[in-house]
Amino acid sequence: MPISSRITDFYNKSIEERREHIAEILGLSIEDIHILRNSELSEDISNILIENVIGSISLPLGIATNFIVNGKEHLVPMVIEESSVVAAASHGAKIARKKGGFTSEYTGSYVIGQIQILGISDFDIAKKVIKENHSLLLEIANSTNQILLDLGGGAKDIELRQVGGQLGDYLLLHLIVDTKDAMGANAVNTMLEKLQPKIEELTNGKVLLRIVSNYALKRMVKVKAVFDKEELGGEDVVNRILIANDLAQNDKFRAVTHNKGIMNGIIAVLLATGNDTRAVEAGIHAYAARDGRYSALTEYEKNSDGDLVGYLEIPLSIGILGGAINVNPSYKLALKILNIKDVEVFTNIVGAIGLAQNLAALRALVSEGIQKGHMRLHARNIAMTVGAKGDEIKKIANQLLSEENISHDRAKEILKTEK
Ligand code: MEV
Repeated sequence: MPISSRITDFYNKSIEERREHIAEILGLSIEDIHILRNSELSEDISNILIENVIGSISLPLGIATNFIVNGKEHLVPMVIEESSVVAAASHGAKIARKKGGFTSEYTGSYVIGQIQILGISDFDIAKKVIKENHSLLLEIANSTNQILLDLGGGAKDIELRQVGGQLGDYLLLHLIVDTKDAMGANAVNTMLEKLQPKIEELTNGKVLLRIVSNYALKRMVKVKAVFDKEELGGEDVVNRILIANDLAQNDKFRAVTHNKGIMNGIIAVLLATGNDTRAVEAGIHAYAARDGRYSALTEYEKNSDGDLVGYLEIPLSIGILGGAINVNPSYKLALKILNIKDVEVFTNIVGAIGLAQNLAALRALVSEGIQKGHMRLHARNIAMTVGAKGDEIKKIANQLLSEENISHDRAKEILKTEK
């Protein structure tokens, strides 16, 4: 069913009203709503996920609105402890909406697994023998995962690299595996371990490391959006954003913070959907330094209408099944809210969130600054910590903001006069 991600005044609804609204437009079940209301992880599940469990810590789950990605509307679940991130993503997406939202391309779910081979006396001979046994090696790798094979995935190719280290020269075998809808680290690691004996037999070498590479250069997403100049606040804002991005492309100190803003959005969606945030972070930051110099991940230009066109290209190794996703119902529900059918759509949305987040941060930074938005939420937090409930929270926060005195003491005084 087609949905609209444009929900007016979502921000001002109560949590229960927001749940009901989302449930209605997405057709969520009573059980789904129950999961949202009781999202604390059970001890049984915690105990399956990691070792030495003594409890669990929960984080807020919010919904970013306004996203159109490749012509389709999506509501995007985000888990994060930082205020303003969900609002900023929604705002970035709202600005992009006017010109049709985000367009995004995905290369496919190709994962690189590495086998490090030591003790090679003649690299040319070793490479030749591996090439001659290409099909056999793929067959051995694929013997470990019939399900993936049946889905049209599996090990597809082998690439060879020679790397010189301080302690010797290594032959590296890269196994290229199409992991389809899964992130696929486990599947690939199993294949690599299975290949070890045959590789050693063929090369007369000794295998040391057999592990997936998180530098996911064969699993890229490329996002673009046109941000209307009027929605941004005029041509002057467009020009200032171009200058801000130029700084991030040329100064490491700024580039790290600029990219951190992109990761705010990406990591929040990955946390909501049970994906491996560390793998993605490591890969994206390496990509930001691919030319030997750490730089901004985004590019912007002005088009002939004076609008701002933004681009983000990053490696994104993420999945919608397997791993922790299978055991935690909250992750499955987050994927249901995303209203996606496969990992391609999911990856395109995550890329779009990164670009929306960056645009919103840059727009605020070159205009009113980011503290204004932060302060609004900060004032609400303070109102809550002094004991305000329900409608009191907004009322006290508004007063703190209008008096420009966002302090616990003032909040306590206002609350007293309210009672
Ligand atoms: C804060 O979490 C993120 C920003 O610092 C990003 C940026 O500076 O571009 C606002």
